[in-house]
Amino acid sequence: SQDVLTDTFGRHHSYLRISLSQYCMPEGGVDLTPKERLLSTDEILGLSEMFVKQGITKIRLTGGEPLVRKDVVDIVRGLSDLRIYGLETVAMSTNGVTLSRKLPALKEAGLDLINVSLDTLVPAKFEFVTRRKGWDRVMQGIDKALELGYGPVKVNCVVMRGLNDDEICDFVALTEHKNLDVRFIEYMPFDGNKWNSKKMVPYMEMVGAIRDRFPQFNRIQDMPNDTSKGYKVDGFAGQVGFITSMSEHFCGSCNRLRITADGNLKVCLFGNSEVSLRDAMRGGLDKDELLAVIGAAVSRKKKQHAGGQSGVVLDTRPHLPLSVGVSYG
Ligand code: GTP
Ligand code: 5AD
Repeated sequence: SQDVLTDTFGRHHSYLRISLSQYCMPEGGVDLTPKERLLSTDEILGLSEMFVKQGITKIRLTGGEPLVRKDVVDIVRGLSDLRIYGLETVAMSTNGVTLSRKLPALKEAGLDLINVSLDTLVPAKFEFVTRRKGWDRVMQGIDKALELGYGPVKVNCVVMRGLNDDEICDFVALTEHKNLDVRFIEYMPFDGNKWNSKKMVPYMEMVGAIRDRFPQFNRIQDMPNDTSKGYKVDGFAGQVGFITSMSEHFCGSCNRLRITADGNLKVCLFGNSEVSLRDAMRGGLDKDELLAVIGAAVSRKKKQHAGGQSGVVLDTRPHLPLSVGVSYG
């Protein structure tokens, strides 16, 4: 079973993203309490061990918001223990609001990489977009990460025309003295987010706007499975990237699998077909049976997602504001 994680297009999956919290309700009304719905600490670590033994080398914890889980430090520590089986990287993507307080323990537990969502540098706009206060705490979280030796810290900024496209150069300016990797994400259509093509600022338009202010804004080399195209202003401490899910998808080099907080395996960010590993485990399937379920799901993975084609709706989850809602990461 060497190739449980290789799909029919020859893509080997070495990167697992595990969502630790989700706001979306199950389809078809599963009769579990909210707590029973979610994977337990042990279930997360048990599944992770299986995946690592199949070749996963990087695990990223995402949300919703991963830091709302009370057991998040235990999970990081447990994942860190999987290094003996070949896991190399334990990462997290967070909204950053409680990061500065929690980061020392997370670092101690073995967290290697940290990505923070931040769509605006204007505190009042932050409150409007996320519907809560805390912009300054997110900035503190980012600085804390740099202080503790993380770097580059990735800052994810979803660009929406009319909302924050006027801040692109200010975000780039942040990289002058801080070892950040600011990544501009093309706004993607998800059900209910009132997406329209005019709100999406294409990658090349952003590059043009940045070059007007920073002429020495140059392309740099990417890592093989990067979702972002890297750039840097000559002489700046940090860098910049573009996640071009809409204008230039990168499905061909996709090495990602996902597990939702309630235990569904998703083989594509945009895919709706999910298989419940939670129910399989709780139903008493043994390891080999579980691996067969996983292998079957991986082999159903499509060559590419439908994003960028005629604005199709890609997901059926309810809309929640950015950084508060379900994660699309
Ligand atoms: P690294 O692990 O450091 O490469 O970061 P990442 O970009 O994989 O993770 P992060 O959680 O920071 O994701 C940032 C954004 O990348 C997400 O919110 C999505 O917009 C986009 N993204 C992540 N995974 C995928 C994917 O599988 N497909 C597409 N199209 N976009 C993705
Ligand atoms: N388009 C692109 N990325 C999105 N995210 C959320 N909504 C969208 C969208 N419509 C991603 C961003 C954000 C995280 C919570 O999810 O990375 O920071």
